[in-house]
Amino acid sequence: MGVNLRGRSLLTLLDYEPEEVRYLLDVSHSVKAERMTGNRHQRFQGMTLAMLFEKRSTRTRCAFETAFGEEGGHPVFLSNSDIQLGAKESVEDTARVLGRMFDAIMFRGFSQETVEMLADYSGVPVYNGLTDMYHPTQVLADLMTIEERLGDVRGLEFVYAGDGRNNMANSLMIGSALMGMNCTILAPEGLHPEEELLKTVRSIAEDSGCEISVTSSREEAIPGADVIYTDVWASMGEEDKLKERIALLEPYRVDDEMLRQTDNPDVIFLHCLPAVKGNEVTFDVIEGPHSVVWDEAENRKHTIKALMIATLL
Ligand code: CP
Ligand code: NVA
Repeated sequence: MGVNLRGRSLLTLLDYEPEEVRYLLDVSHSVKAERMTGNRHQRFQGMTLAMLFEKRSTRTRCAFETAFGEEGGHPVFLSNSDIQLGAKESVEDTARVLGRMFDAIMFRGFSQETVEMLADYSGVPVYNGLTDMYHPTQVLADLMTIEERLGDVRGLEFVYAGDGRNNMANSLMIGSALMGMNCTILAPEGLHPEEELLKTVRSIAEDSGCEISVTSSREEAIPGADVIYTDVWASMGEEDKLKERIALLEPYRVDDEMLRQTDNPDVIFLHCLPAVKGNEVTFDVIEGPHSVVWDEAENRKHTIKALMIATLL
C-alpha cells in the first residue's frame, strides 16, 4: 500500500510513521526540483488556509503564505490581535467556525493543547507551526537539508547543542528517531530533555536502529559529529530567563573550536533561525563554510508546500 496522508494534520511528528516522513521528504525534493526548473502549478486553486499566530514569525509565516498563495490558494493571516480566539471566544468555537470556512488551518502559539483542540474541533487538517513543545515543520526542512548535503541520514551523527528541552530539541529527537539518525542532545543538566519524551523517542529509535543520547560533555558529544545544530537559548515566551540561560549555556556555544573538535572536515551547521549571533553560535560559524542555514530556511517553503500537497489534494 502506498502512503496516503490526505486529510491528516501535523501536530507532532510522533503521530507519523517513518514511511510517511519519507514520503513527505520525497515530495519536498520533487517540489523543489520543479520550482528550480520554472515548472509552476496551481494546485491549491480555490482553496483557503487560515494562519493563526500568537507568536511572531518570519520563515514559517512566509513559507506557508507563499507556498499556498503561489499555487492559487488564498492564505489568511490572523494574529492574536485580529481575532476573538483567546479573548472572547474559546478555541473549540473558533475551530468550528474556521473549519466551516477554510480547507486547512495553521497555528503558531504557546500551548500544544490549543493546536490539538483546533484539530479536534475544526474537521480540517491542522498544521503546527510551532508551540512551546514542538516545531514539526521545521524538522522536515532540517532533514531535507541534511539529505541534500550528506545523502541518507541513517547512521549519521547528529548533535544538538543548547537548550535540550525546548521545542526544537524535542522535535529533532523525534525526527532523528523516526529516520534512523543517531542524535545526541548536548546540554547542561538543568536543560536535559523530559524523561517521558526520551523514553518514547528511544522506543522509536530501537525500531529504526539508531541511538538517542543525552550528555553534558562536549568531549563525549562532538568528536565524529556529521551535523551540529543549535537554537536560541531563550525561546519565545521565556525571554525573562535569558540571563540565567547565558550563564548555563555559554560552554555549549557553537564556535570554531567545536567544529574542529568534530575532526570532520565535512561537518555541517544548522540553525532553525532566528539566531542570536554571539550567544548560541559565533558569527564566524554561522557565516562560515560549514553553515547551511540559508538552504535550511529556503527548504521550509518546499517542505511546507509538500505537506499541504500531501494532506490536502
Ligand atoms: N524557524 C522559524 O520557525 O522561524 P520563524 O520564527 O521566523 O517562523
Ligand atoms: N525555540 C525557538 C524556535 C524558533 C523558531 C522558539 O520557540 O522561540
